[in-house]
Amino acid sequence: MKILGIETSCDETAAAVVENGRNVLSNAIYSQIEKHRPYGGVVPEIASRNHVIKLPGIIRDALEDAGETFDSIDAIAVTYGPGLASSLLIGYSAAKTLALRLRKPLIGVNHHEGHLHSVFMRKDAPAAEDVFPMLGLLVSGGDSSLVLMRGMGLYEVLGRTIDDAAGEALDKAAAVLNLGYPGGPIIQKTAEGGDPDAIRFPRGLDHVDRGKWAYKYERDFCFSFSGLKTALLTHVKKLDHSPEGDELRDIAASYQEAVCDALTSRVERALKRFPIKSFACAGGVSMNKVLRQKLSDLSQKTGDALLLCPPSFCTDNAAMIAGAAYEKYRLGKTDPEPQDVNPNLRLVDWI
Ligand code: KG4
Repeated sequence: MKILGIETSCDETAAAVVENGRNVLSNAIYSQIEKHRPYGGVVPEIASRNHVIKLPGIIRDALEDAGETFDSIDAIAVTYGPGLASSLLIGYSAAKTLALRLRKPLIGVNHHEGHLHSVFMRKDAPAAEDVFPMLGLLVSGGDSSLVLMRGMGLYEVLGRTIDDAAGEALDKAAAVLNLGYPGGPIIQKTAEGGDPDAIRFPRGLDHVDRGKWAYKYERDFCFSFSGLKTALLTHVKKLDHSPEGDELRDIAASYQEAVCDALTSRVERALKRFPIKSFACAGGVSMNKVLRQKLSDLSQKTGDALLLCPPSFCTDNAAMIAGAAYEKYRLGKTDPEPQDVNPNLRLVDWI
């Protein structure tokens, strides 16, 4: 079964054709980074206008690269949330129109579910019965969550960030240090050769505190990056110069270390609490080399299998959307098709 996936939830315009959920026949992506770079972040109106301009060509590329046509694909999958409303609407309108015109099923996919699914986007990915229950660390520019997946389509969100997402924390740090956008890859590059222990930046919510907690999720599994960001700002303000060279490398390495420690420690807590067969990490920040190393050290320590997303599927793409859609289709869960986009869509069971 071949599914054409469409993804426009933020600033990547993407389409892909995936066969039977894992065999990626094409993965066309237009990254709008250059359009947003001058503003230091994604500007929603610029994003949606560029989706309008680029999406038709990207869909054509995805079909051509896969050697497929509109007639030969079996279904259309589309991200319907969460994300920027004006961006989601462009991909969603295109997908719904195609599905109507071609008389093919439309499968709506949660963007976060797509990210979690991206760890299976390789032909030799393990079978579902070997990985579930699986703990998923989802770290993107817009969200950081810890999710317990008891099976395909069975989600329990254990914890989330209570303020910034990990990617956002890296993007903001790069802005403070005048390094450019997007921050994650730039902080990683700047940190090379730096001392990760040079500055002890805070790991938000790290200390054990059983006091009052108003948030919906358990404190032990939540993240907070706003204190870390403030600590960086204060550190830089106290210097009477713009950091460069070794000093800049040390700041970047220490900051990156704090972000990765905060993420890894929550995973470790959850691994101790829940009997799982594997744990996984997905989303743009899962590209980060230090985070990948820390998770792989954790896997060695606990003996739990680790599934990491192939680098080409870490950041936003449509292959992961088509892949996740296949599971829904296979299990007969395509209806009711989404009637609208939902910018605040939560991960909920669909099984
Ligand atoms: O998953 P993604 O493409 O977007 C969302 O769905 O939100 O993730 C984008 C985020 C950005 O914040 C970017 O700075 C971060 O992923 N990122 C990285 C790296 N590459 C991208 N963060 C850390 N290290 C990287 N190598």
